[in-house]
Amino acid sequence: MNPRHSTDADAALFGNRFATQEVPTREFPETGMTATDAMRLVAEDLALEGDPARNLATFVTTWMEPEAQRIIAANLHRNFIDHAEYPRTAEIEQRCIRMLANLFHAPGETTGARTQGSSEAIMLGALSLKWNWRKRREASGESTTNPNLVFGGDVHVVWEKFCRYFDVEPRIVPLQPGKYTIGPDDVRPHVDENTIGVAAVLGTTFTGHRDDVVGINSLLLQIKDERGLDVPLHVDGASGGFVWPFLYPDSPWDFRLEQVRSINVSGHKFGLVYPGIGWLIFRTKADLAPDLVFEENYLGKTDATFTLNFSTGSAMVLAQYYNFVRYGRAGYTYVMRNMQANAHQLADKLEAMGRFELIGRDEEQLPLVAFQLAGDELGYDEFDIAWQLSAERGWMVPAYTLPPNAQNETIMRALVKETLSREHVDTLARDIEEACQILARKGGAHESERKKIVTGPGH
Ligand SMILES: Cc1ncc(COP(=O)(O)O)c(C=O)c1O
Repeated sequence: MNPRHSTDADAALFGNRFATQEVPTREFPETGMTATDAMRLVAEDLALEGDPARNLATFVTTWMEPEAQRIIAANLHRNFIDHAEYPRTAEIEQRCIRMLANLFHAPGETTGARTQGSSEAIMLGALSLKWNWRKRREASGESTTNPNLVFGGDVHVVWEKFCRYFDVEPRIVPLQPGKYTIGPDDVRPHVDENTIGVAAVLGTTFTGHRDDVVGINSLLLQIKDERGLDVPLHVDGASGGFVWPFLYPDSPWDFRLEQVRSINVSGHKFGLVYPGIGWLIFRTKADLAPDLVFEENYLGKTDATFTLNFSTGSAMVLAQYYNFVRYGRAGYTYVMRNMQANAHQLADKLEAMGRFELIGRDEEQLPLVAFQLAGDELGYDEFDIAWQLSAERGWMVPAYTLPPNAQNETIMRALVKETLSREHVDTLARDIEEACQILARKGGAHESERKKIVTGPGH
């Protein structure tokens, strides 16, 4: 036998030198490596990652059609911000904005922006609320030093982030045990002449329900009437903006309601596009504070921009347009109804186990199942189930506590997306039942296992 040792020449001939070598992790590499080596190194690292198809924690798209993927791959080299050089991409962005304004019942011509996701859209939308409020106050010679923004504890963390970054007082309506959304009675005591706006959520991160947008709109109309304060309502439709128009088309939450002045939606959630795309849509052009729009002379052409970032990819904008024309209302409705049907199937199965309580399954809700254990003295809890499911079966189903004052409630939440087929739902339900039986036998997860559990709702 020839006791040859593996050499770089062998690695070049047969494949992978990182089969036996440590990968670079700290020092900037002195020399490079072949493209094949680099590709295998990255791929082998990622093989240790969770499987996106079993990630039921995320709202974000984990599957797109092969044709959409071809468009994405073919356009990765196109910088979206170069409007002068890529005018068709800029035009396609405007088409998407017009289609979304139409979907959300804008009363006429309006404006909006493509963003990196709902977080950037919310920052920009809330900045516009602040600028418009300041202008109103200055026009009537009143103080502009103490702006506040009213929202519920059911919002995504980005709303508090906005308040901290841009110096606005957050007026947060706390949740209560058993009450995980807000309505007009919660909002009323917080609104005053320094309120730049109220934010309502359509499809909360925590349980997938909506705030009482209709009731809050009526309250703001009443305040306008009685106190002369015109307080705008922004709807955070990060997830719900692509769900309600198709599952609940007759339920008003959008520009059909007079005080709704701006809406954000994540293209990369139920817009069914891979990560990196969000939208901000105004009711009318006048709702976008003009001072926030920069007229730039860039490479010899004047361009108007309203963004926090500058350079970014075009691919997801093009993929969003692909989805709009590919699916239309009929296609989005079909996809949303399938997800909802499978969410109902999972909910039925969990209910039939007799171990769980479902949270608000009869209300308008995103296609997900939010649930918690029915009893207290079981020897295991929701965090243990999350651990057992991921350790044994690779399912990522998060367990988390709710925001104050519902912090003593622990819930689990399973997103039902396009790739979670009926067969997957049946398997998941069996795996949950089995996880509970195992945990009951062993008296919960071990302390060392509990330490590894990721808590938080995902997004
Ligand atoms: C209600 C809500 N708002 C905002 C966000 C932030 O969205 P993005 O991840 O698109 O920035 C999320 C994300 O989960 C969300 O659920």
